[in-house]
Amino acid sequence: MTTDWNLLGVAESYEDYVPVRERTFAWSALFEQAGLGDRDCHRVLDYGAGTGRVAEQILRSHDVSVIAADRSPSMLKVAQHKRQDPRISYQTIGPDQRVDLPDGELDAAISCFVFVCIPETDTIQSIVEEVYRVLRPGATYAMLEVNPDSVGVPFELGQMGRMGREYAVGEAIEMRLARPDAEPMSILDYHWPKEVHLDRLRKAGFRDVGLVDPTLPTEYDGPDADRLQVERTMAPYTIYVARK
Ligand SMILES: C[S@@+](CC[C@H](N)C(=O)[O-])C[C@H]1O[C@@H](n2cnc3c(N)ncnc32)[C@H](O)[C@@H]1O
Repeated sequence: MTTDWNLLGVAESYEDYVPVRERTFAWSALFEQAGLGDRDCHRVLDYGAGTGRVAEQILRSHDVSVIAADRSPSMLKVAQHKRQDPRISYQTIGPDQRVDLPDGELDAAISCFVFVCIPETDTIQSIVEEVYRVLRPGATYAMLEVNPDSVGVPFELGQMGRMGREYAVGEAIEMRLARPDAEPMSILDYHWPKEVHLDRLRKAGFRDVGLVDPTLPTEYDGPDADRLQVERTMAPYTIYVARK
């Protein structure tokens, strides 16, 4: 059954998931790709912001404001309860996928693990087009997604799908996320090969469309080093990058 992000229980379980890999190397790579440190970057859209964790992380390292938008009132409820900051403005996205923002004003946009949750091609395309609409010319959109080439890889912190099994485009795939002192959280995701997302970005009008698969430096010995072994050689995530 599709994970229902509108349920408060799902929002609270997701909040229990500790974003070790994101914190260690994926968020910093995402922010760099999105140009959040650029001098002319002031306002950033986080589309599918969930419980606001990524927005909070952006503010730790960048002098920007963040519009954190999501379809799920429950995710936003947790976000507003846990992460109130005058530099974050939360907003609910309607069924048409539109955000309440004018055309062409934002300096950058990011999204994290949103498309992997969505089975409908049309919905994903509408989101990509909406992000394109609100960005100013020259601004960058960077989206962090699970690496579709890592199916079945037994990462210490989670595993997507079964090793050796081939998944069709858009097919449901189970993601099991490790949680401290709790059973793994099982999320029903969808398998979107890289070329599918790259095509969607181009179709929306983006240029300079590309991707990076960040891995952890092999010499890393900081926090959680013992739980991050496979990530040194195999990328759990893919960052798609595109410019308006
Ligand atoms: C896996 S969570 C990730 C949340 C957050 N980006 C993070 O990384 O912590 C996926 C998020 O995508 C949101 N989402 C799913 N479908 C959406 C849609 N059609 N439009 C906007 N957000 C959506 C969910 O409500 C949920 O908050």
